[in-house]
Amino acid sequence: MNRSIEIKKNIYWIGVNDRRTHIFENYWPIPKGVAYNSYVIVDEKVVVVDTVERSKMDDYLENLDTVLQGRPVDYLIINHMEPDHSGAIKALLCHYPELTIIGNSKTFPMLQNFYGVNTHLQEVKDGETLSIGQYSLNFYMVPMLHWPETMVTYLPEEQVLFSGDAFGAFGTLDGGIFDDQVDLDYLEEEISRYYSNIVGKYGIPTQNALKKLGGVPLQMICATHGPIWRTYINDIIARYDKWSKYETDEGVVIAFSSMYGHTEQMADAIAGFLAEKGIKKIRIHDTSKTHPSYIINDIFRYKGVILGSCAYNGGIFPTMETLLSELEAMGVKNHYLGYFANKTWGGGALPRFKAFAEKIKWEVVAEPNETMGSMKPTDWEQCKAIADAMVEKLRNH
Ligand code: FEO
Repeated sequence: MNRSIEIKKNIYWIGVNDRRTHIFENYWPIPKGVAYNSYVIVDEKVVVVDTVERSKMDDYLENLDTVLQGRPVDYLIINHMEPDHSGAIKALLCHYPELTIIGNSKTFPMLQNFYGVNTHLQEVKDGETLSIGQYSLNFYMVPMLHWPETMVTYLPEEQVLFSGDAFGAFGTLDGGIFDDQVDLDYLEEEISRYYSNIVGKYGIPTQNALKKLGGVPLQMICATHGPIWRTYINDIIARYDKWSKYETDEGVVIAFSSMYGHTEQMADAIAGFLAEKGIKKIRIHDTSKTHPSYIINDIFRYKGVILGSCAYNGGIFPTMETLLSELEAMGVKNHYLGYFANKTWGGGALPRFKAFAEKIKWEVVAEPNETMGSMKPTDWEQCKAIADAMVEKLRNH
């Protein structure tokens, strides 16, 4: 069913839900789907803010038509060029050949490279304003939140911020579209997993954007994914502030890679020792089963991280390597680290963990343990030492 929803006077949500895609952008699983939000402002000029992923183009254009009833689009604002939002640009140009595309100096080379579009362009700069009739639009550059060209668009007369990916979430909009209409508990993990995996590398740009927009009064934040924020604006901003400062809660994420069960035995042993000391927030993940995006999401939540892997071909197990290299690339900050390994003969996991610790600069809380096969009494003692040292750090530092 195609639909549009008026979210403020003459401002409409014309987004679409995607429940068919299993792997978003060929990397992130989205079991709860994703929404691509787009908006249209009907004033003396008609302005579309961002588009949708191209697989949803037909539904999207019908949504737009339910609002415009044949009236043409004057402006298309591109806050962000990633194809889940730019995918319908060429279709819009076909339908509305006179429209003017608004972007910034970083937007247009991408537009050319992705779609071969290099006409009908109007460049805006940071702080510039465009009058569209009763309403006006202010443009703020927020580079690296999370691409170089990202900007946000603010409509001061209604205090609405079109924020691009910022404040977005995985998960479809099942019925309601506002934060007070949807089940935020159901979406909780998809909100934080979206931040940690899509935006999480860019903590400093996020802080810069929050400072830049800090004095802007807000009645509504319209992101390109997830619910429209109007009731819990302060909550989502506070979360972004916390996440982008890499602030965490007391808890420990244990991620392990295990072929025959011995490394998993060590993970369980450490978890048991943590629990004995009163740690409740313990999340154990098997890297062979759980996508890194979920593990990374928990690492953004909890201060303690304990990693364990068996050896594999003289190195570390491949799924652990994926997790480590992604954490390194993201430059996740502000954690305590413990690690352990298992080998049958030559080993290989321990040196990789050591290199990881040095690169990511997390404080290592205890000497690592390397077990050969099943756990012996000394292995239990060493696993306890790792757990005890982690608790000591979490509680006393
Ligand atoms: Fe939703 Fe960065 O695209």
